[in-house]
Amino acid sequence: MIELNYQEYDQHSGTVISVRGSVVDIQFLHKLPPINGELRAGNNAVVIEVMSHLSPDTVRGIALTSTSGLYKGTPVKNTGHPLTVPVGRQLLGRMLNVFGETIDKRDPIDGAEKRSIHQPPVPLNHRTTSSEIFLSGIKAIDVLSPLERGGKSGLFGGAGVGKTVLITEIIHNMVGMHSGVSLFCGIGERCREAEELYREMQSAGVLENTVMVFGQMNEPPGARFRVGHSALTIAEYFRDTERQNVHLLIDNIFRFIQAGSEVSGIMGQIPSRVGYQPTLGTELSEFEERICSTKTGAITSVQAVYVPADDFTDPSAVHTFTHLSSSLTKESK
Ligand SMILES: Nc1ncnc2c1ncn2[C@@H]1O[C@H](COP(=O)(O)OP(=O)(O)O)[C@@H](O)[C@H]1O
Ligand SMILES: [Mg+2]
Repeated sequence: MIELNYQEYDQHSGTVISVRGSVVDIQFLHKLPPINGELRAGNNAVVIEVMSHLSPDTVRGIALTSTSGLYKGTPVKNTGHPLTVPVGRQLLGRMLNVFGETIDKRDPIDGAEKRSIHQPPVPLNHRTTSSEIFLSGIKAIDVLSPLERGGKSGLFGGAGVGKTVLITEIIHNMVGMHSGVSLFCGIGERCREAEELYREMQSAGVLENTVMVFGQMNEPPGARFRVGHSALTIAEYFRDTERQNVHLLIDNIFRFIQAGSEVSGIMGQIPSRVGYQPTLGTELSEFEERICSTKTGAITSVQAVYVPADDFTDPSAVHTFTHLSSSLTKESK
């Protein structure tokens, strides 16, 4: 056992007692931070989200950043709030990470309001539904398999069938055809795709109406698991506060499920069907139910869904299907 000098830490401080990959156990002598609380360690460089309370004085958290440099005894600060992202019009034209920090090498965002990435879904009596077609600008889709305005659409397909290309095409076609704000959320896909998209949006002149949020495949599971929530929080701001129509494009929602499965695994939960996390349905519903339209504005969402091994009965595909109002499936030949 290492001897720790707790006197040097104030009420909001804890100490690392174990680090295993992204899993960090932290002891708090005074008050435990609540579930989903944000903790910071190592000069604020390591961000940890509380996942469970192990004992009256210990919490287990998942790091959203690399844990290199952490050691037994590292002081940990309880920020006293959940993970937050900045929201506001100044985000337009910017590329952000899961924390809402800019990653486009331009100035950081200053003075923006910060909101928790964990928000309840809109109550039923505030929701609106309509059955209007959302013109994607691609004739084959608009005629044969139209997307719904204010609804959720899925582009299903295995690897390399053209989901990303199709989403990019839809973004291009939205210019001029639709008013409002576009929000692109990249989850667990290739980093170069983020760079390519940013450059394409810039040259197409649509960047000033777009916010991009990325947690790509090189990032730890915690970051890929939460980046969708960060993007949703920004989309909700534009819908509820700015009262605008929002186009939310997600590439790829399967990577959110996959990140949840990784988090569940490293937290030691027993896997369920096909090795997925037992909480797959709950996690996906919590996420998808936040994407909805209200009297003030609509969120129209187009989501790419990777289908593992082209197996459409995979639990990730089956669960995603149930949330969508329209879907396109692409099959590799
Ligand atoms: N409609 C298309 N016509 C011709 N080539 C396409 C088309 N859609 C996709 N491709 C090709 O397939 C490759 C993979 O597409 P991509 O969208 O990255 O796949 P996914 O995102 O489904 O893994 C692209 O680089 C492109 O060259
Ligand atoms: Mg892709």
